[in-house]
Amino acid sequence: MTETTPPCRIVVLISGSGTNLQALIDAQANDQLAGAEIVGVFSNRPDVQGLARAESAGIPAQVLDHKTYPDRETFDQAMQKALDAWQPDLLVLAGFMRILTPEFVEHFAGRMLNIHPSLLPKYPGLHTHERALAAGDSVHGTTIHFVTSELDGGPPVVQAQVPVEPDDDPQTLAQRVQRKEHQMYPATVRWFAQGRLTFGKGAAYMDGTAIDPHGINWDDIIDSE
Ligand code: GRF
Repeated sequence: MTETTPPCRIVVLISGSGTNLQALIDAQANDQLAGAEIVGVFSNRPDVQGLARAESAGIPAQVLDHKTYPDRETFDQAMQKALDAWQPDLLVLAGFMRILTPEFVEHFAGRMLNIHPSLLPKYPGLHTHERALAAGDSVHGTTIHFVTSELDGGPPVVQAQVPVEPDDDPQTLAQRVQRKEHQMYPATVRWFAQGRLTFGKGAAYMDGTAIDPHGINWDDIIDSE
């Protein structure tokens, strides 16, 4: 009798348009997630485009509107319960615009990834494209990291750089960043599903080796894949 490993169960958390969710849906459809399965989509905002994407793909979705909860703790407890019902191996935060309580982060420690549109540790928080332009940066980018209780501060896994062009505005720069995000998030989820990407003692590991504090350079990966 052959033993089969159950598929890695992924839940994607969104608050908006869900283009990263779509990239993951497409990757699963094209057999590029190493058998991982997106078993649910969670949104803290009703009526966002990402929910329509989940519906079109036949993925169950749940909305808990944070505005209907008295405080962050109560919302996070309800969200944790909703997410646990899907028995996730990995939570993928894809444009999920909430600060998380330490209790929630602790509960999902080591199985929660986020994508942040800057070259962390530069520009944690909001309005990263505007800030990169205002600073006159010639290079900008995006980072996937494990989530810890420090906002946008968990150990980076992979980082992609993009050039800032002289005529960029926040929208054109965001689009260039997102094209990278749509390649690197599915790859990162695949590494996790394969057991190559792990988290331990506050650090991220790839194939058992600690990842550089800036994350793996995405350009090195695409050169080698
Ligand atoms: C992405 O650029 C991501 O880096 C940031 O929010 C954006 C989400 O876009 N956290 P989408 O909802 O995946 O289209």
